[in-house]
Amino acid sequence: MRIKDKVAIITGAGRGIGEAIARRFAAEGAKVALCDLDEANVCRVAGDIRREGGVAEVFVVNVRDSSQVVDVVNKVVEIFSTVDILVNNAGITQDAMSHKMTEEQWDIVIDVNLKGAFRFSQAVIPIMREKGYGKIVNISSTSRNGNVGQANYAASKAGLIGMTQTLAKELGPRGINVNAVAPGTIETEMYMQVPEKIRQMVNLLVPLKRPGLPEEVSSVCLFLSSDDSSYVTGQVINCDGGMFMS
Ligand code: CAA
Repeated sequence: MRIKDKVAIITGAGRGIGEAIARRFAAEGAKVALCDLDEANVCRVAGDIRREGGVAEVFVVNVRDSSQVVDVVNKVVEIFSTVDILVNNAGITQDAMSHKMTEEQWDIVIDVNLKGAFRFSQAVIPIMREKGYGKIVNISSTSRNGNVGQANYAASKAGLIGMTQTLAKELGPRGINVNAVAPGTIETEMYMQVPEKIRQMVNLLVPLKRPGLPEEVSSVCLFLSSDDSSYVTGQVINCDGGMFMS
């Protein structure tokens, strides 16, 4: 088990990539704090993890609300004594061509995807600084390089990279690794809402010629959350079937 007894907070753990990360981390021995707005879904995931012998707690939280975020982190510390790992995965899309995008669509996507990750990071940083250990993984996206209909989402996901690299520089001296994963087209409910015609166009650009699975993203998150990546910080790992190469 690669993260045995580590305490991991995972946001957006009720479905999709977050759900896969939660299940994988629990299977690798972590005590998982599952955060989501959707109570029914996150309880379903926690129930499954417990039935398989894992340790999971549910927190219904809106990442847009700083006081709720601080409360959750305090409760995690009350229950599990510490926080070792934070995965900022909660994210939404509100796709529209830029000339049609409303200010509300811009604001909510930036607030959830980017500021939500900052809120959670700020809340766990004092705990990690004090213990001189921690792993923060931010879920960015290949859309950070620009994607038709996603000015808001792309800006939030590119912003997460700047935040990742800043936190890596600030927190490296304190033994805290901060990295990002950039998934491409992953078979989630979010991606399946994209029109079929566009999904087919995107598939043509992927050398591996298929969408990824949430579990394939969770493997990269596990690497970045474990001591296997102890000398890796401030990096962005694409998990996109080769769509982008640097
Ligand atoms: N590449 C190239 N052209 C594209 C395109 C793409 N990815 N997406 C849309 N277009 C083109 C359309 O073909 C269309 O061209 P024409 O005017 O020549 O016909 C034009 O842009 C306008 O598109 P629509 O007619 O669809 O315009 P709309 O206003 O009805 O809808 C939209 C716009 C909501 C952005 C819709 O096109 C859409 O949903 N696009 C997909 C956006 C997308 O890729 N989202 C990713 C979601 S998954 C995710 O975000 C996870 C992640 O991290 C990757």
